Order: sequence, then structure tokens, then C-alpha cells
Amino acid sequence: MRDLLGSETLGSFSDALDEALRLQASKLHAPDSRKSDKGLRRFTIREMADIAFRMNYNTLRHHLKTIEGLPEGIMEPGNRRTFSLEEIHEIQSALFEAGKVPNDLFPGKFEGESTSKLLVYNLKGGVSKTSTAANLAQFLALRGFKVLLVDLDPQASLSDLFDIQADLDGFPSIYDVLRYEEQADGETRVPIADAIQATYFPNIDILPGSISLTEFEYETASAAAKGIPFYSRISDALSLVEDAYDVVLFDTPPHMSFCVIAALYASNSMLIPLSAGMLDVVSLVKFLDLASSTLESIEGVDPAKRFEFVRILLTRYSPNDPAQLQLSSFLRNTLGTAMLNTDFLASTAIADAGNTMNPLLEVDPSSFTRKTYDRILESLHGIALEIEREIMVARGRIGSGEETS
Ligand SMILES: Nc1ncnc2c1ncn2[C@@H]1O[C@H](COP(=O)(O)OP(=O)(O)O)[C@@H](O)[C@H]1O
Ligand SMILES: [Mg+2]
Repeated sequence: MRDLLGSETLGSFSDALDEALRLQASKLHAPDSRKSDKGLRRFTIREMADIAFRMNYNTLRHHLKTIEGLPEGIMEPGNRRTFSLEEIHEIQSALFEAGKVPNDLFPGKFEGESTSKLLVYNLKGGVSKTSTAANLAQFLALRGFKVLLVDLDPQASLSDLFDIQADLDGFPSIYDVLRYEEQADGETRVPIADAIQATYFPNIDILPGSISLTEFEYETASAAAKGIPFYSRISDALSLVEDAYDVVLFDTPPHMSFCVIAALYASNSMLIPLSAGMLDVVSLVKFLDLASSTLESIEGVDPAKRFEFVRILLTRYSPNDPAQLQLSSFLRNTLGTAMLNTDFLASTAIADAGNTMNPLLEVDPSSFTRKTYDRILESLHGIALEIEREIMVARGRIGSGEETS
């Protein structure tokens, strides 16, 4: 008779994979191969002008020559000057002081302006939530925005992308911040400031995710039975640190959870990535229904709860595919300006990034054809610009009908 399979079988698969992954991770994270050891690549004057400052290239070159005391970067082979991101932001501050950067292009908050808290949210997996959060964070950080990433996914892919692995490295994660019992199982609740880690990417910090987030779900159920509210769990913790950031970006898991509801409560804007397939649109309808009733119950707790903006981003989009092209115009006809104008194109440069753990700004442009690189760069840059514009409207620096400088 055939052996029946049970818990030991699954357990043995898990043991074998776990062992193999650990081995692979220890290779990936051997000294000097970690991103945090190598740091971020340097940027050209062209990139500084086009992406970081959004300033005419020749104007920037003129400022670099005429304003004294600015960092000079280093001269690379081929007579190409490059700058670290820290140098770029030092130059940006100096140009702002000198009146060369208009207010609506200056990323820092002014007195009285509040932090943008953007929830990247869709219940479906594989719709580019994590890729959107990672790339958006990097483009905004390159512009000079101070970004805090909050990884709400127990799988912690976003944290992985930034080479922060709370579970593997034994650092506290968001779970340790949110947990109810101040002290249990030999662990103690951690103040949020102690759980946030700087990444190798200047201007991006992260509150890492962890598999233990699943425990938060069980604990919330029993805490709720004792009358301890969970809605404000994330916003209360965040309120202690958010002033230090211009933008907080939440990456969400592909399921509804108490943690996601608490993030919905904590956020003041939403970006919904939607991949370009008919089935995805059908599931979006169900998702929007669920999100709407979740928000309704949040409004029951906090009647003043409002979002500054809610936008939908078409992802993994191939404009050459007639069916997708049709879907895109259907969505734009139906949803109008709720859709971002820029789509997140399907691109090998992004698919590869999933394997090499390198978001687009970190890859060597020369490892792709110029056209491949430029198209996806333009797509991601366009998305970041639209989100930046929403941020500036929310801050009141531009009117909602106006263009930025
Ligand atoms: N625009 C894109 N083009 C090609 N591959 C993509 C794109 N966006 C995401 N991917 C790949 O699809 C997979 C799922 O994307 P991910 O961002 O993790 O989605 P989610 O967080 O919604 O589950 C990853 O392997 C990622 O590299
Ligand atoms: Mg994800």
C-alpha cells in the first residue's frame, strides 16, 4: 500500500528548502557582497539635472561653475564627472539657499507642512506593489525627499530589496513595535525609532517586515476581545517619528489583515497598482468594494478621515499588446483622472531586478539596450513626478489645476 503523506512530508520540504535558502542567503550576504557594504552608485551631471533637480542641464552646469564651495564630485575615466547622492543633495540645498530652486521643486517640508503617508495597496499579489514602492521610494529619494518605507508584508520582500533582513540578522521588525504584550516570549516591545534602519540608499529608511507579523493578527483578535483598539496602532507609533520624513510609503501584503487596516487608518493617500489584465480589473472591483467598506468602518471611528489623493496605476503594461491597449483606454474612459497618466511598463529591466535585487536606479544602464533602459526609466520617472505633484498639491505649494515649475 502507498504511504499516505502528512505533516512530516511538508515539514521535510520546509526543512530542506529552509536549509538551502539559508546557505544561499549566507552567500548572497557574505561580507563585501552586501549592498550595504558597496553603497549606492554615483550619478552623472545629466542625471542630477534631469532626475534629481529637474533643471536644465546647461543651467546646472553654469551653477556648478559659478557658485563657490559646491562639492566637485570625482572625474571618472572617459572624462565623466560623477557625484554621490549626498553630494547631490548638498548641491541642491546650496542652490535652494541661493534662490535657484523654486519652492514647488524643493522637496523638504516647510513649517506647518505635514508628511505624506502613501499606502500602496491592492489585495492581489504580483501586481507590482513592492516594485512600485521600491522604485518610487528611490526616485523620490534621488529628488531629495526623505522617505520612510514601512514593510507590512510578512514575506518582507521590500525589506529584502533594501538588504534589510530583520529575521535573518536578528534585528527588530515592525512586529516588535506593534506587539501588544510589552514583554513576552523573552522579547520586549521596541520603540519605533529603534526598529527603523537606515538603508544603503541615502534618504531611505525602513521599518522592516518580518514573518512574525502573522502573530500580530492572532494577538489583535484577542486584544480586541479585551477592548484594546488596533486601528491606531500604526499611526500612534508613526506619530513619534514622522516629522523627520517627507514621505512614508507603506507596502502591503496580498491579503486583508488587521495590520493593513491599521495602515489604512494611518495613511493620508493611496496608490493602487493594477496589472493590465481583464481578470485583474475584475478582482479590482471586488477589492474596491472591500476597501470601501473597510474605510467606512474606519470613518465610523474617525469621521474626519479623508485621503488627499487616491490614484490607480496601470502596471506591467505593454502598449504593443492590442488587448492591453484596449484595456488601458477602457480604464481611462471609466475612471478618468483617477488613473495616473503614466503607466508602469512591463520591462525585462524590472523582471531582472526581482532576481538580482536591484531596482532600476541601481542597475548599470549599459547592461540593457539604451532603448529598454530609457523606456522604463521614463515610465518610473513619470510615475514619481505625478506622485510628487500630488504631494506638492497636498502641501498647498501648487493649486490642483496648476503645473509644477
Ligand atoms: N513592470 C514590470 N515588468 C516586469 N516584471 C515586473 C514588473 N513589475 C513587477 N514585476 C515582477 O513581478 C513579480 C511581482 O512583482 P511585485 O512587485 O513583487 O508584486 P507584488 O508586490 O504586488 O506582489 C516580481 O518578480 C517582479 O520583479
Ligand atoms: Mg509585494
